[in-house]
Amino acid sequence: MTLIADRLNRISPSQTIAITTKARALKAEGRDIISLSAGEPDFDTPDHIKQAAIKAINEGETRYTDVAGTPALRKAVAAKFKRDSGIDYKPEEIIVSTGGKQVIFNAMLATVQAGDEVIIPTPCWVSYPDIVQLAEGSPVFVSCSPNNGFKMRAEDLEAAITPKTKWVFLNSPSNPTGAAYSTADLRPICDVLLKHPNIWVFTDDIYEKLTYDGFKPATIVEVEPQLKDRTITMNGCSKAYAMTGWRIGFCGAPLQLIKAMDKLQSQSTSNTSSISQAAAVAALEGPEEALHEMVKVYQARRDLVVDMLNQAPGLNCQKPEGAFYVFPSMQGCIGKTTPKGKKIETDEDFVIALLDEEGVAAVHGSAFVYPGHFRISYATSTEALVEACTRIQRFCAALS
Ligand SMILES: Cc1ncc(COP(=O)(O)O)c(C=O)c1O
Repeated sequence: MTLIADRLNRISPSQTIAITTKARALKAEGRDIISLSAGEPDFDTPDHIKQAAIKAINEGETRYTDVAGTPALRKAVAAKFKRDSGIDYKPEEIIVSTGGKQVIFNAMLATVQAGDEVIIPTPCWVSYPDIVQLAEGSPVFVSCSPNNGFKMRAEDLEAAITPKTKWVFLNSPSNPTGAAYSTADLRPICDVLLKHPNIWVFTDDIYEKLTYDGFKPATIVEVEPQLKDRTITMNGCSKAYAMTGWRIGFCGAPLQLIKAMDKLQSQSTSNTSSISQAAAVAALEGPEEALHEMVKVYQARRDLVVDMLNQAPGLNCQKPEGAFYVFPSMQGCIGKTTPKGKKIETDEDFVIALLDEEGVAAVHGSAFVYPGHFRISYATSTEALVEACTRIQRFCAALS
C-alpha cells in the first residue's frame, strides 16, 4: 500500500515557489542573486493597518470568529464591492478565507465533479490548473495571444465551451501578464456567457487596485449584472495592501455557494486569523494614500523594466495595464548558446541559465502554461531592477 494518495499525483508543487526557494538557497550560499520570481509586494504593510492589528490583540480579539469572517469584515467587504464596482452583495453573500487561494480552493472543491471542465485562459496563474485537478476537474486552456494583449477573445471562449463546461476563470489584472480587462474588453465575453446559462464564472480580481496610466479595470458582474447569480467575485488584501503574510482573501457569491464554501471551510481551516481580519477592516475602510504611493512606484518600475527589456536582443516585452509583472517573449533567444556553453532550447533553459550565469531569478512561461516567455515581478527595489535588467541585457547580448 502506498503512503501518498493518488490525488496528490494530479498536482505539482508551485513552480514559482520552487524557483524562489532555489534563488534563496543560492543567496544563502553567498551568491549574488536578484530574485524577480516572487509574486509579492516589496512594500511594508501600511502603518494604520498594522496598528489596527495591534489594537485587536490588545483588546482581546484573539478568539475564533464566525467561519465566514467577522460581521465587521463581511460588512466592509460588501461596502468595498459596492464602492469600487457598484455590485450589491449582502454581508451574508460574502466569505472571508485564508488568502485568495483558499477562496479558489473552496469554490472548486465545493462544486467540481469528476470530468467537469474548467476553462482557464492562458497564460494563467500557476495554481488554477492544479486546484482544478485536485478537485477532479479537467482544465481546458484557452490561449490568449500577445497580439490581443494576452486577453481572451470571445470567439476563443465560445469555441472552448462544451456541455461539460462548469466554470470559466477570469483574472484581471493578470498574473503573469499584467493584462487587465476594461468594460469594453469584457462585453463580448459577457455576451458569450449569457448564451450559456449553466456556466459559472470565477473572476479573480486580486490585483484590481494595481493598474497604471489611469486604466480602469472592470469586473464581470459590474459589466453584466445578469451574471451575478452565477459568478464568484474574488478579491483580497494580499496584493493591494502589501499584506501577503496576513492571509486575507474574500469573495462575493450567491448564498447557496457561500454556504457550501462555509461548510467546507468549517471542516478545514475554520476562520482566518481574527487579528488579520481586524487589520483587513482597516485596510478596506481606511485611507488609500499608501496604496496610491505604491501604485505610482510600481508604474515607474513597470516603465523602466519594459524599456530595458526591449533593449535586450531576442526579447520582446509588452507594456501591461496592471499587476506587478511583465511577461516578455524570449523566442528570439531560442537555438542560441550561452557563454558557458548551455544551449537554449526552451523558456525553462533560458531562466535556468539566467540564474546560473547572471544570478537573476525569473519564472519560465511554461509554468503559466505559456512557453516561449518568462515572467518578471517588478515588486522589488528600483535599484535591484536596474541591475537585474542590465544583467538580462548582458546575458541576451552574449548569446551566440
Ligand atoms: C492571480 C492570483 N490569484 C490569487 C493569488 C493568491 O493570493 P493570496 O496570497 O491572497 O492567497 C495570487 C497570489 O500570487 C495570484 O497571483
